[in-house]
Amino acid sequence: MKVIIVLIGVCVAIFQAQARTSESISVDTPDVILDNIVDGKVCSRQVGVADGGFKNVEDQDGLLPEDNESLNAFHGCIFKRKGIIDNHGIIDVGNLRIYLSNLFTLDQAISPSQRRLVESSIEDCRNTTGKDYNQKSVKLINCVMKKLYGLVKE
Ligand SMILES: *[C@@H]1O[C@H](CO)[C@@H](O)[C@H](O)[C@H]1NC(C)=O
Ligand SMILES: *[C@@H]1O[C@H](CO)[C@@H](O)[C@H](O)[C@H]1NC(C)=O
Repeated sequence: MKVIIVLIGVCVAIFQAQARTSESISVDTPDVILDNIVDGKVCSRQVGVADGGFKNVEDQDGLLPEDNESLNAFHGCIFKRKGIIDNHGIIDVGNLRIYLSNLFTLDQAISPSQRRLVESSIEDCRNTTGKDYNQKSVKLINCVMKKLYGLVKE
């Protein structure tokens, strides 16, 4: 249980960090965070929002609004850069697995229980639908978050 609660803290922080590009970085900063900072900078420019423009958009459950076009475009851009989704909204399960594993572990070796959590998140969320790849990216993030919160409530 404790592991899962820590995990959720990490995931909320990191999905939020996708939208926050001014994180302080050090030599210890995991690659998964550095990548998100770079992706966030490129994508906020592409979408035309200021760095950190999507701070604190999550509701109290850590879920993102699914009907904000520029927020959708931002996360769509990030997931496309990571190779998790393509223009047609096809999810690359292999790349999703790599990203979630890195997120859940912050680039440390993955434990068996973390691996099970990655696999069950993928099973539950791989068929997420959306009107385009942008909205689908946001719904995919929300799906993973709901999955993690669901585990805490079990
Ligand atoms: C989308 O979210 C951003 C950041 O919270 C906000 O500034 C913007 O007004 C929102 N756009 C719409 C259409 O709600
Ligand atoms: C998701 O889609 C895959 C491939 O089409 C299918 O095998 C699987 O049963 C679906 N999973 C769920 C939870 O609907």
